[in-house]
Amino acid sequence: MSQATNQSWGGRFSEPTDAFVARFTASVTFDQRLARQDIQGSIAHATMLARVGVLTDEERDAIINGLTEIQGEIERGEFNWSVPLEDVHMNIEARLTDKIGITGKKLHTGRSRNDQVATDIRLFMRDEIDVIEVELKRLREGMIELADREADTIMPGFTHLQTAQPVTFGHHLLAWQEMLARDHERLLDCRKRVNVLPLGAAALAGTTYPIDRHVTAELLGFERPAENSLDAVSDRDFAIEFTSFASILMMHLSRMSEELVLWTSAQFDFIDLPDRFCTGSSIMPQKKNPDVPELVRGKTGRVYGHLMGLLTLMKSQPLAYNKDNQEDKEPLFDAVDTVRDCLKAFADMVPAIEPKKDSMYEAARRGFSTATDLADYLVRKGVAFRDAHEIVGQSVAYGLTSKKDLSEMSLEELQQFSTIIEQDVFDVLTLEGSVAARNHIGGTAPDQVRAAAQRAREALATLQGQV
Ligand code: ARG
Repeated sequence: MSQATNQSWGGRFSEPTDAFVARFTASVTFDQRLARQDIQGSIAHATMLARVGVLTDEERDAIINGLTEIQGEIERGEFNWSVPLEDVHMNIEARLTDKIGITGKKLHTGRSRNDQVATDIRLFMRDEIDVIEVELKRLREGMIELADREADTIMPGFTHLQTAQPVTFGHHLLAWQEMLARDHERLLDCRKRVNVLPLGAAALAGTTYPIDRHVTAELLGFERPAENSLDAVSDRDFAIEFTSFASILMMHLSRMSEELVLWTSAQFDFIDLPDRFCTGSSIMPQKKNPDVPELVRGKTGRVYGHLMGLLTLMKSQPLAYNKDNQEDKEPLFDAVDTVRDCLKAFADMVPAIEPKKDSMYEAARRGFSTATDLADYLVRKGVAFRDAHEIVGQSVAYGLTSKKDLSEMSLEELQQFSTIIEQDVFDVLTLEGSVAARNHIGGTAPDQVRAAAQRAREALATLQGQV
């Protein structure tokens, strides 16, 4: 048995907490990360209590000054975190009482750690969402500008990872950008449900003091007080929503990463990544490895893990607060850190991608990527699509044996398969002709890509205005 540890409930207990149990149940080693938000919430709570006459103005000022000093101690690394004091909330409150005496003990009037921790974590998530949004926006901007610059750059488009039809590199980048635009909307939507105030729910049923939750909500910048006290202390939907946003975003980043890894390989040779985003090998002197995209791809797994962890944490929990909820923090912290760092890495790296245009062009020229264009050409000359498909299939088979792309065959060679083919066929068999012909909204034509980039810039600007 340990020495008497935590005094805040000592009155009811006849023996001190077991030393191992004290360590096992403590969260201060990780929840000290919430200190800034804990102090912010306490200052708002004390301000509200004074406003409704539960504290005097002198008591409020003593509390606010004490908490402000504690904030400084924490920032300077002078604060002595104590595991026997269990969590960030009781550490700060105990220090406040050390500093200002009996008034410090009045701070917890009309409040419980249950509504306090729920408030802290929402304040924390709101701050982190705003930081993540900045990185996401920076990445989208970089991607849109690169797409605009590469609107004319031709590369093969793939289905089944087999060469399918030529596309422009700008079009490919804007496909990535669309994924991120949806992630951005999801993030801002999640923020709305984060931004609700639990404080005032107290332990679970509310409090007998004449509190004004609208005042606290306004002081903390929350949209409104949570509607139901039982739900307020036990709701962790916002944590699950955030990690589900994070999981989908990481899935997208892993897809982009996979392509970057493939494209930097000698086999594809589509792009170069500047040396600062790569590392070498300790044994193979020739190696330059795309570590950043590889790591982002790898880190996707831990974020999915946190989503499953949080869903399972909340499964079957009876109302209202349960100690289980203390387990929400580490997965959330790690999800936040991982997503922020991966976005930062991508936002730095994407504008620095150097396309190897000749190599992309050559790859698009191989693999009969304009076969569909030849079929469409025949259809325009009155051939039924299924017959056109057959004619082109025979031309490709001939190309495979004679090792010629469609555009490299002579008119006579092409006419073996259909006499309808004329000299103008070569306009559609070129890669430039092929991409330029897909000239409608959502298509790969360079003009469409430039217009799409402009719309993406505008959509990004409008979305930002919504916070
Ligand atoms: N450390 C706790 C948590 O993170 C704070 C709330 C504790 N409440 C309680 N009644 N034991 O959830």
